[in-house]
Amino acid sequence: MRGYERADREACLSLFDSNVPPYFAPSERADFAAFLDDLPGPYLVLEDLNGDIVACGGFGPTRQDDTVAILCWGMVRRDQHGCGLGRQLLAARLDLIATDPRFRTVRIETSPLSRGFFERFGFIVDRVVPDGFAPGLDLVAMALDLGGSGANPRA
Ligand SMILES: CC(C)(COP(=O)(O)OP(=O)(O)OC[C@H]1O[C@@H](n2cnc3c(N)ncnc32)[C@H](O)[C@@H]1OP(=O)(O)O)[C@@H](O)C(=O)NCCC(=O)NCCS
Repeated sequence: MRGYERADREACLSLFDSNVPPYFAPSERADFAAFLDDLPGPYLVLEDLNGDIVACGGFGPTRQDDTVAILCWGMVRRDQHGCGLGRQLLAARLDLIATDPRFRTVRIETSPLSRGFFERFGFIVDRVVPDGFAPGLDLVAMALDLGGSGANPRA
């Protein structure tokens, strides 16, 4: 696990592509590319033993409330889903967030397909927006209270 560098841009975009569809809509690719070009906070990449990037994800503060960290653009290469990489990536991000005493809540906006993953680690759904990401792709807004008793992603 290490910090994102500009040279990782294409590899991260191909992780995105591997998840289209159903996890991301093609129309979101430009947003992700723009995000990579102007990161709002820490962004991590996870390499396999060959040095290939197999997962990436980050977080940033929210503009409206600086006690809230928002997880951004987390993803695992499609052929590596279910191998524990998503858990590692989430644990690393939550560890970094925990080093900043400002943050009391972690938020994520994800799709219904990944909702169960975040519920597994204590996130609670507070809003579902039909077609919120793109036609046919609902947005599920979820929150984790850092004072709460969510499952440890390392467990
Ligand atoms: C969501 C995502 C990051 C999960 O990563 P992953 O590497 O497949 O998950 P892991 O293998 O680490 O799974 C950890 C645990 O969560 C469970 N889990 C994984 N995906 C799940 C899902 N979609 N729903 C419910 N549980 C899930 C696993 O079964 C495992 O449980 P266990 O500890 O009981 O064995 C991955 O599926 C992904 O990249 N999806 C596409 C992008 C995406 O939706 N990102 C979310 C933010 S927008």
